[in-house]
Amino acid sequence: LFAGPVDFLKGVVAMDGLPPDDRPEICFAGRSNVGKSSLINALTGRKGLARASNTPGRTQEINYFTLGDQYYMVDLPGYGYAEAPVAVVERWQRLLKAYLAGRASLRRAFVLIDARHGVKPVDAEIMSLLDGAAVNFQVVLTKADKVKEKDRTRVLAQVREKLAKHPAAFPELVLTSSEKGDGIATLRAIIAGIA
Ligand code: GTP
Ligand code: MG
Repeated sequence: LFAGPVDFLKGVVAMDGLPPDDRPEICFAGRSNVGKSSLINALTGRKGLARASNTPGRTQEINYFTLGDQYYMVDLPGYGYAEAPVAVVERWQRLLKAYLAGRASLRRAFVLIDARHGVKPVDAEIMSLLDGAAVNFQVVLTKADKVKEKDRTRVLAQVREKLAKHPAAFPELVLTSSEKGDGIATLRAIIAGIA
């Protein structure tokens, strides 16, 4: 699907460490532990490409991956609660926000939302930041395998209601499970269509 190598490029800890913005990129944002790194592994079919773990705050740098020769794919640190020292968390939250609001080559941010929990205030805050920076974003619901049928409809409605307030949001939601593979092909096709 993606022509050329899919590989880890570098971990970035400050805005001046970002690679030259000479090609379009997409990124995965979301609360700590929502499943950003796992989704990258599922999308690329490479289990250990992005490091995932059950500890919130696993990803602490802006991790760049090449997506073929033409795109970058970016795994971000989470926002919200993380198991790391406060000073460290604050540093990466500042970096995360600077990146989301200030990266000219960012074509679309995928904002990951746990399909069991819906949009939390901290997610809405990030969506408002993206609105303000005019960065298009699309919600990907994660951990679909863990959501009960009766909760799914309610959560989807809650997410749609919240998104209506955000001009930079794409209305289409993608329900995924990195564990079971639901929605992965759909998301690959969406990414392939971002030029
Ligand atoms: P941080 O880097 O800490 O912000 O987390 P993250 O958003 O990158 O989450 P990560 O991919 O590390 O996954 C967190 C936990 O959720 C891990 O234990 C994963 O195995 C689990 N997980 C991720 N996606 C799924 C999924 O689709 N289904 C299930 N059941 N578990 C998942
Ligand atoms: Mg991660």
